[in-house]
Amino acid sequence: MSNDTDASGVSRRGFLGGVIAAVGGVVAAAVGIPAVGYVLSPLLGTQSSQWHEVGPVSDFPQGEPVLAIFSRTIKDGWVTKEQHVSVYVRREDGDRFTVFSPKCTHLGCGVQWNSKAQQFFCPCHAAVFDAEGTPVAGPAPRPLDRYTVKVENGRLFLGETQPKG
Ligand code: FES
Repeated sequence: MSNDTDASGVSRRGFLGGVIAAVGGVVAAAVGIPAVGYVLSPLLGTQSSQWHEVGPVSDFPQGEPVLAIFSRTIKDGWVTKEQHVSVYVRREDGDRFTVFSPKCTHLGCGVQWNSKAQQFFCPCHAAVFDAEGTPVAGPAPRPLDRYTVKVENGRLFLGETQPKG
């Protein structure tokens, strides 16, 4: 037995090497696990439901759909950007609202409300939707999407779009 080896046969050099490897592993885990989590979080993260303010309810007269724009922040992978979104807001009465996405359900062009005809028209391929957003002519396969809506402190908020149920 050399003077570098104890009674169990473990050399001092081998023991120190093991300790250094263990400490290195702990340090690598402490640094690496959060870093990997940060890098992968946009891919693994869940989208939480968010509400976006459109404005005071007094901005919207009862009856006719009114074009409004709100801003929202969207995360696309690691990029965060501001997006301006158009919607048609129709005040039914009091604090009851129906909010339509103006995105045509055929290929996504912007529909326009025609007050005289009381219909939404799509300029791209001539789809026509009635005042409830139901397609009545042209190639659109389904009604205009609607936003979930809530009113708080006299202000209108929109959630996510959902197909008309
Ligand atoms: Fe609207 Fe085609 S995109 S009819």
